[in-house]
Amino acid sequence: MSDPDSRTDSQPTEGENERLASSDVGASDPTTEPLVDSSIDVDGSAASSGGENRTVIESKDLDVFYGDEQALRSIDIEIPAEQVTAIIGPSGCGKSTFLRCINRMNDLVDAARIEGELRFEGKNVYDDDVDPVALRRKIGMVFQHPNPFPKSIYDNVTYGLEVQGIDGDYDEIVEKALRRAALWDEVKGQLDSSGLDLSGGQQQRLCIARAIAPDPEVILMDEPASALDPVATSKIEDLIEDLAEEYTVIIVTHNMQQAARISDKTAVFLTGGELVEYDDTSKIFENPEHDRVEDYITGKFG
Ligand SMILES: Nc1ncnc2c1ncn2[C@@H]1O[C@H](COP(=O)(O)OP(=O)(O)OP(=O)(O)O)[C@@H](O)[C@H]1O
Ligand SMILES: [Mg+2]
Repeated sequence: MSDPDSRTDSQPTEGENERLASSDVGASDPTTEPLVDSSIDVDGSAASSGGENRTVIESKDLDVFYGDEQALRSIDIEIPAEQVTAIIGPSGCGKSTFLRCINRMNDLVDAARIEGELRFEGKNVYDDDVDPVALRRKIGMVFQHPNPFPKSIYDNVTYGLEVQGIDGDYDEIVEKALRRAALWDEVKGQLDSSGLDLSGGQQQRLCIARAIAPDPEVILMDEPASALDPVATSKIEDLIEDLAEEYTVIIVTHNMQQAARISDKTAVFLTGGELVEYDDTSKIFENPEHDRVEDYITGKFG
């Protein structure tokens, strides 16, 4: 388990995480409002459909800059549907930056500038006609530190639905999301109590329930278990494998064993913001093409 205090300042602060999380579900964060055009629906995009392992997320020649500093260099990747894709690499190599490009969280970072293409179901998410709030309904996010809102468990799960104006039987949706997040049995008798009263591991599963309640297609997870103890971590890992039956999961992790255990594909980013190797997880861990990747995964650096 890593110590959050030892991390680089590249990690968003807790406050930023909360701000990002609320914008994730379309909260009335003023920084998101100019981007909103509710007349546009990402569903109306040129979506490719059907087929096992079709590509859901694709980047082409994606560069990201923060001011004059380049954080990602010419990233080309195709991420398959309904699998777990792990993103690994040393601190500062751009893993979080890449994740935040996918649902346009980097829009909230003033200094960030994106060039190239990032496609979700065939549609470039940076096209002018894409509504980032609608996009974030389809691409949910879970952060390193569990960040439930200071609300009841029930209201945490329904938060995104309400903000996005999603109708439905909320009781049913809450139960389904909490079951899907493997939390229902532990909280079904206390849905009115505060989400903040749960343990860290339970809070993270609540955040996963909140992310899946609006029924997204993709769930982005940025080191979702690194602040948790081994028992809670193992629950989250089981849950992630389970979620990939229904959702596309992209997880950033510093834990090689975790990547090897739970992912189907692994992308290795290295210092300088390059995607050095991307392949089936077994290939990356057993027989990587690049010496730099082998050195990284065998712990020679990073
Ligand atoms: N908001 C920001 N403003 C300026 N520079 C940033 C910002 N966020 C990240 N960077 C820089 O971009 C680079 C990539 O950062 P990023 O957070 O994506 O790395 P990371 O691989 O997720 O690292 P870690 O493993 O420590 O979380 C780093 O050099 C970082 O300092
Ligand atoms: Mg990071």
